[in-house]
Amino acid sequence: MTFSIRTRLTLWYVTLLAVSLICFGLVFSYVLLKIFMSRIDREISSVANIMIHTVITPSGQLILPKNFDIILERFFGIRTSGNYIQILAPDGRIVARSSSLKDRNLPVTDSIIEAVERGETVFETVGTVGRYPVRVVSKPVIIDKKPVAIIQVGTTLKGLEEIFHSLGYILLFDIVASVVIASAVGWFLARKALRPVDEITMMARRISAESLNERLDIKGPQDELLRLADTFNEMIARLERSFNQIRQFTADASHELKTPLTVLRGEIEVALRTESSVEGLRSVLESALEEIERMNYIVRSLLELARVDAEKTSGVGTDARLDRIVMDRIEQIRKFAVEKGIRVDILKIEPVVVKGDPLRFSQLIFNLLDNAVKYTHRDGRVDVSLEERDGYAVFKVKDTGIGISKDDLPYIFDRFYRVDRARTREAGGVGLGLSICREIVDSYGGRIEVESELGKGSVFTVYLPLDEDGRSRINKT
Ligand SMILES: Nc1ncnc2c1ncn2[C@@H]1O[C@H](COP(=O)(O)OP(=O)(O)OP(=O)(O)O)[C@@H](O)[C@H]1O
Ligand SMILES: [Mg+2]
Repeated sequence: MTFSIRTRLTLWYVTLLAVSLICFGLVFSYVLLKIFMSRIDREISSVANIMIHTVITPSGQLILPKNFDIILERFFGIRTSGNYIQILAPDGRIVARSSSLKDRNLPVTDSIIEAVERGETVFETVGTVGRYPVRVVSKPVIIDKKPVAIIQVGTTLKGLEEIFHSLGYILLFDIVASVVIASAVGWFLARKALRPVDEITMMARRISAESLNERLDIKGPQDELLRLADTFNEMIARLERSFNQIRQFTADASHELKTPLTVLRGEIEVALRTESSVEGLRSVLESALEEIERMNYIVRSLLELARVDAEKTSGVGTDARLDRIVMDRIEQIRKFAVEKGIRVDILKIEPVVVKGDPLRFSQLIFNLLDNAVKYTHRDGRVDVSLEERDGYAVFKVKDTGIGISKDDLPYIFDRFYRVDRARTREAGGVGLGLSICREIVDSYGGRIEVESELGKGSVFTVYLPLDEDGRSRINKT
C-alpha cells in the first residue's frame, strides 16, 4: 500500500506528537507518584515512631492500653478509618491492632520478619486489606540489641489512586484531543506546503512541444519547491531552445539547398530557351556544376555535423598527435594561401597528445585555418601555434583579416550564420564550419574562444584536454 506524501507527512507528524505526549505523561505520572509516595512514607514512619514511644517503656516493657483506638484518637488525633496500626511480638504474633482493621490483618510475611530482625524498616504496598491498596511500614523496636516488638502502621492509598485515576483521564483526553487537532492542522499544512507540487504536476502535464513557451508561475519564499519550479522552468527553456534550434536549422538547411537548386533551374531553363552554341551551353554546364558542388558541400557538412553529434553520445576516442595533424593541415592550406599572397607562419609547435578521433581534429584545424585564409586580404598573415598549458593543448590561429564586429561575434558559431551572406557565398562558405568546430570541441570536453576586431583581424583559440597516458607513450618513443 502506498500513501501520498501528504498522508505520510501527517502520519509521521501525528505519530511523533502522540509518542512524545505519551512519554511526557508517563514520566510526569511517575515523578508525581514518587513524590506522593515519599510523603506518605514519611508520614507513616513518623506515626510508627510515636507509637514506639507510647507503647513501649524504655526498659522494653510493652504496655498495651485496653482500648487501642481511643488512645490513638485521643492522643494523636489519628482518625482510624483508613489508617491501620498493628503491633507484633518479635516472632510475628499479632499482639494488638486498631479496630479499623476489623477482622483483617496487615500482612506479616517471612521477609518482613527477617528484615525486621536485621533491624531494617520495611515499606511495602499491599492489596489485601481493603478495596484500595495500603502502604505499610514495619518498624522493629530493638532494646539492648534484642527485638522487643514490631510496629506496623498502614495508610490507605485511596486518595492517591483517585488522583491518578483523574490524572489518567485528563492525560488521555489531552493526548487524543491534541492528536486529532494535530492531524487536522498537519493535513492542512501539508496540503498548503505541497500545493506547488500539484501545480507543477498539472503544468507539466499540459506542456507539450507546441506549448514550450509556457512557464510555471509559482510565488512564495525561496524554498525547495520554488527551486524545483525554477529548475523545471529552466529545463523547459532549454527544451524550447533546442526545439527552436531544430526548427531554425531545418528551415535554414532547406533554404540553403533551395538557393542553388533555384539558380540551377533558372540557368538551365534560360539556356534551353536561348542558348544553342556549344560554347554557351558549356559555360551553363560549368556554372551548374559549381552549384552542384556547393550543394554537395552543404550536404557533406550537414552529415559531418550529424556524425559529430552522434559520436558525442557514443564517446568514440583514440589518441591523436595534434602537432602532426596541425603540420599536415598547414601544408594543405598553404597552397591556397600562397595563391592569395598570404603568409602562414608557425610560431610554435609542441608535441601534444589529446584523446579523440584524429579525423575530427583534422577537420577542426582545417576549418579554422580555412577561415583565417578565406577572410584575410591579399598580403595578410596567419600565425599558428600549438602548446601545452594547464592540462590543455592550446591551438591558436591568428589572422590579420577582415575581423568580426562585436554584434556578430556571439552568433558566428551558430549553424548557417555568416556575417556577410553575399560575400561569403562568393567565397563558397555556408556558415557550418565553425558550428562543426564547436561540436567537435564540445564533444571532447574542450572549448573554443574568439577575439576579434573589425578590420584588424581575429584570433581563434581552441583548448582540448591533454591525454596524460598518451603523453607518456610519446615520451617512451
Ligand atoms: N577568421 C575570420 N575572420 C573574419 N570572419 C570570420 C572568420 N572566421 C569566421 N568568420 C565569420 O564567421 C562566419 C561563420 O564562419 P563559418 O566557418 O562557420 O562559416 P563559413 O566560413 O562562412 O562557411 P563554411 O566554413 O561552412 O564553409 C563566416 O561567414 C565569417 O563571416
Ligand atoms: Mg568556414
